[in-house]
Amino acid sequence: MTKPIIKFENISKSFNETKVLNDVSFDIEEGRFYTLLGPSGCGKTTILKLIAGFETPTKGNILFNDKVINKVPANNRKVNTVFQDYALFPHLNVFDNVAFGLKIKKLNKNVIKTKVDEALKLVKLEGYQNREISEMSGGQKQRVAIARALANEPEIILLDEPLSALDLKLRTEMQYELRELQQRLGITFIFVTHDQEEALAMSDYIFVMKDGKIQQSGTPVDIYDEPVNKFVADFIGESNIVPGIMRQDYEVEMYGISYECVDAGFKKDAKVDVVIRPEDITIKSVSEGRVSAKVDSQLFRGVHYEICCYDEQGNEWIIQTTKKATIGETVGLDFDSEAIHIMLPGETEEEFDRRIESYEDESNE
Ligand SMILES: Nc1ncnc2c1ncn2[C@@H]1O[C@H](COP(=O)(O)OP(=O)(O)O)[C@@H](O)[C@H]1O
Ligand SMILES: [Mg+2]
Repeated sequence: MTKPIIKFENISKSFNETKVLNDVSFDIEEGRFYTLLGPSGCGKTTILKLIAGFETPTKGNILFNDKVINKVPANNRKVNTVFQDYALFPHLNVFDNVAFGLKIKKLNKNVIKTKVDEALKLVKLEGYQNREISEMSGGQKQRVAIARALANEPEIILLDEPLSALDLKLRTEMQYELRELQQRLGITFIFVTHDQEEALAMSDYIFVMKDGKIQQSGTPVDIYDEPVNKFVADFIGESNIVPGIMRQDYEVEMYGISYECVDAGFKKDAKVDVVIRPEDITIKSVSEGRVSAKVDSQLFRGVHYEICCYDEQGNEWIIQTTKKATIGETVGLDFDSEAIHIMLPGETEEEFDRRIESYEDESNE
């Protein structure tokens, strides 16, 4: 692991007695694309404000290159923020918007011109220097805001839901561009979104948040394949989440039927959440399936069909497959043992790691 550029050590933040961040710790490594992902109100913007210096922590330390920066003012941090509403100055033209921070630093005129031109080139707005902000489209304004952040040559760029005001097509285009820009420049990006697909597509690393706590951190593939709890499984992608009982190691019971699984280390008869991804279920004949279910409805989703079935006990099963089903038909649903993911209700990553560690210790004895 390389040296972290930012470190949060047990950060809590309260506003008038209300705890908005609760004992949050993480490392941000240099040159990577990080995403804070979570529902509205979970504390994402508060984390960015603490990094930028617009807020101070109630408890804990923020380190920047190993130095505590809790009280360092925003303008002395090598961090720039791109806001959702762009926060451009409507009475200034494109050049003056991008040059704003450089003029405050009282840089030489020629230096400012070079830096602004370079920044505009990076976001593909060469030649737009003299345009008024009011003449720019939403996507172009977003680019100006990004250029303004880049012109200051920060070590970290914070992006607070920067694409959420754009329409879908433009948003997808900007996702590619931002990712490409980050890789080309090698600057650390910390990006905020509540959109799981955006997070999966863009990030090297994702922190999934809920209620002021990080639920899980990892690469997009890690988080998608091995969610630590029901919240993460549900938030990241479509899922079948079924209540289960861990009868013993490698055996879980769902809806009264026992299945072989690949998980162990739970207490006997522990109540668990069982997650099965819709793309891991295949539709077969009733005799070949593990569960019989009746096809209730299906939607064509472009690449696959999303099929909704109900088993004999009335439980819903969502399946994604490239083959069309027949509505009203009873089919067999099949899945591998590896497709069954077991988690304890509400367990966070830290608790998960501790449980696995203690299980491994016991098994080694
Ligand atoms: N300055 C503030 N004063 C009081 N409450 C705040 C303040 N800033 C944020 N909050 C509250 O903190 C919680 C987290 O806010 P925020 O970090 O903006 O969430 P997110 O960006 O994930 O939507 C919300 O409940 C919000 O109302
Ligand atoms: Mg926010």
